[in-house]
Amino acid sequence: MKRIGMLTSGGDCQALNAAMRGVVKCLVNSKENVEIYGFIDGYKGLIYGNFRMLGGHDFSGILTKGGTILGSSRTPFKTIKDPDENGIDKVDAMKQNYYKLRLDCLVILGGNGTHKTANLLREEGLNIITLPKTIDNDLWGTDMTFGFQSAVNIATDAIDCIHTTAASHGRVFIVEVMGHKVGWLTLNAGMAGGADIILIPEIPYDIKKVVGKIQERNDNGSKFTILAVAEGAISKEDAKLSKKEYKEKMKNYKFPSVSYELAQQIEKMTGHEVRVTVPGHTQRGGSPCPYDRVFASRLGAEAGELILKGEYGFMIGYRNREVVKVPLEEVAGKLKMIAPDASIVKEAKLLGISFGG
Ligand code: F6P
Repeated sequence: MKRIGMLTSGGDCQALNAAMRGVVKCLVNSKENVEIYGFIDGYKGLIYGNFRMLGGHDFSGILTKGGTILGSSRTPFKTIKDPDENGIDKVDAMKQNYYKLRLDCLVILGGNGTHKTANLLREEGLNIITLPKTIDNDLWGTDMTFGFQSAVNIATDAIDCIHTTAASHGRVFIVEVMGHKVGWLTLNAGMAGGADIILIPEIPYDIKKVVGKIQERNDNGSKFTILAVAEGAISKEDAKLSKKEYKEKMKNYKFPSVSYELAQQIEKMTGHEVRVTVPGHTQRGGSPCPYDRVFASRLGAEAGELILKGEYGFMIGYRNREVVKVPLEEVAGKLKMIAPDASIVKEAKLLGISFGG
């Protein structure tokens, strides 16, 4: 008999359900007796003992379903060791609930913050297996996270739609893509959608170079320009500020996001009409794309197999086209960013894409 706890934590994404289904299908097919405890709304469910007992049927028909059947929430790692508003020790509460239910292991699906807490629970002696989810694709230790490809499809669709209207009106269009810290989604959707300028957090931009590219296109007879801009795109000047100085500056920031600041600057400097489109949370929504369905199912199945072997303390990741187990202590607390000299950046530049750098 295996008693498995499961939870999804952090911002949701496509294929969370597909991944959980993969784990459960593998366990059920093994003929091992399993009990599944689904904790509601991420770590919150584990802290406050809010769970549902689930059977194989609960995971049937969810391969194509977006969101998460367990619900999710953000439980910041920064304050995980602080007592809650009622003085409850959150880490201790999670351990107590794990032991009370006599769990053999916890399967945790999440991104960066989630992995820090998962690793802490491992250090505290719990058996943990994790699965890498996030549209940001910024988890260390895996070349790919599920949710990413589905989000690339959605952001690319947004850029595709903008393309036709931008061409009709001869405007400059900014499409703001999710990603505060990393630019994987913006870079991939930008390239797939044929953006002319791609601004990502890893390569701070110079507004003069951005405007230079727009003018160059104009001089060459292109009436419109499309920019794919990450939420976390940052100017060269701002990138030089210390964390404290930057925070101070942001207190008086009058724009809803960087795209609107860029729009105003471009309009002033070029006289062109600029429009901003923000697909926002649509990028995390809807049905997972076929790639993610297969990918998440594979990772889920491998997680199930590890559970059957009683091997814990790993994230199931993907490296060099193979599914691998990565020790949690290697993953936690590290971000996978785009190196400014990465080959994909070089190739994008060879295609004429400007990074404003
Ligand atoms: O989960 C990752 C992510 O979608 C980021 O790309 C985005 O910046 C952030 O979450 C948005 O968070 P929230 O859903 O809390 O607004």
